[in-house]
Amino acid sequence: MNVDIIILAAGQGKRMQSPLPKVLQSIGGKPLLQHVVDTCSKIEKAKLHIIVGEQKKLIQSSISAPKSTNWVIQKKQLGTGHAVKQVLPSLRANSQAVVLYGDGPLVKSSTLKKLISNVAKNNLTLLTFESANPKGLGRIIRQSNSKVSGIVEEKDASSSEKQIKEVNSGILATSTKNLKQWLPKLRNNNASKEYYLTDIVTLCSSENKSIKAINLGDTSELLGANDNQELQNLERIYQKETALRFLKYGVKFADINRVDFRGEISIGKNAFIDINVVLEGKVSIGSDSIISVGAVIRNSTLSKKIKVEPYSVIENSKIGDNSMIGPFAHIGPGADLANDVEIGNFVEVKRSTISQKTKAKHLAYIGDGAIDSNVNVGAGTIFVNYDGKNKNKTKVGSNAFLGSNSSLIAPLIIGKNSMIGAGSVVTKNVPENKLALGRSRQKNIKKK
Ligand code: UD1
Ligand code: CA
Repeated sequence: MNVDIIILAAGQGKRMQSPLPKVLQSIGGKPLLQHVVDTCSKIEKAKLHIIVGEQKKLIQSSISAPKSTNWVIQKKQLGTGHAVKQVLPSLRANSQAVVLYGDGPLVKSSTLKKLISNVAKNNLTLLTFESANPKGLGRIIRQSNSKVSGIVEEKDASSSEKQIKEVNSGILATSTKNLKQWLPKLRNNNASKEYYLTDIVTLCSSENKSIKAINLGDTSELLGANDNQELQNLERIYQKETALRFLKYGVKFADINRVDFRGEISIGKNAFIDINVVLEGKVSIGSDSIISVGAVIRNSTLSKKIKVEPYSVIENSKIGDNSMIGPFAHIGPGADLANDVEIGNFVEVKRSTISQKTKAKHLAYIGDGAIDSNVNVGAGTIFVNYDGKNKNKTKVGSNAFLGSNSSLIAPLIIGKNSMIGAGSVVTKNVPENKLALGRSRQKNIKKK
């Protein structure tokens, strides 16, 4: 059976006090709506319909959704029922319809599948949960025989209804046929003067049709975010869940509450992540690696057994097995390090390739370089890659020894097995097996 998934994302979300529409607020470095879209993409035979308001362009360009996604405009935000009404003409005949809210990012695809499997059995299926502090959420009204008969919004609830702890997640499933029948009947005679989608529950009940509420109990999976405090709460839940998933898989942490995952992160078994590490964008860390305190790793691939010492930044780079980085190193963007490379204290490597067993352990800048294997880059070596107009390349052959505090003026080729005397300013290519000295001879003059 075809499934039409409808995601409501037209609200501005004034309570976030941000120029960004609410569904573009992020948790785990990813917009709320993107979380929902990614989860829905795991549902087979599903077509996505996303309802957006005047910020359509911004939302469309910020979200990656399947090509087949139907973007629908709700010109005025007259309520969740009114929002769904906008999509009715594009729903497929005889399909199943699932409605989700773009501000509820934690729902799992397995839960949605469970919901969808109920559509054939019931006219309307809701996902509900229990909250000790249900403020702001729609309360589930059950009759004495426990059958669901309606949802009452906080603003419209009597004081006894406010005591109800079972609340509406906003996620529901029914047939397209039912939606087409119920939505035109919604009225806005409520405290908010809005067309509430939740009123279809009362309609379904009054037609004596079956309603099933799947109550997930005391769960955080169905929480949404209307303000910054709720957003922060979702962020912490997301971070903890992500860390727990890695723990289960065999990753070790100094403290799962002091690490941040902000993107698509993969970490190999038996890797250790120390406190205050931030992993951002697309990051892959190989097994048995150690990432020390305060490291920031962005859009990079680290292979196995890598040691990143404290407070190092690695971005848009690749690092080979057994390499050591830091402390206080800056790798990238555009650094490609082979296996067994050592980059130490206060060394910056940018747009450069470095081959096996090469070392630059102290205070160096390697920019636009191509360094072959077994090279020693002495303390304070600078690749002078920029002449004010262009960035120029420096090539260094294998086994070369670059003496401390030398300036290599690019473009430059330094041959293999060559040696640069400490303090040299090297402006001409150095052939293989030569010692290059580019400094004035020392004079010892009699003191006056
Ligand atoms: C809604 C539910 C409430 C439920 C809660 C769960 C209704 C009437 N209330 O309340 O029962 O407990 O979610 O989090 O449905 N939107 C539109 N167009 C509109 C209005 C809203 O697209 O005209 C979108 C918003 O962008 C948002 C979603 O619908 O993504 C929910 O709207 P919101 O205003 O957050 O509803 P709640 O007050 O949280
Ligand atoms: Ca909400």
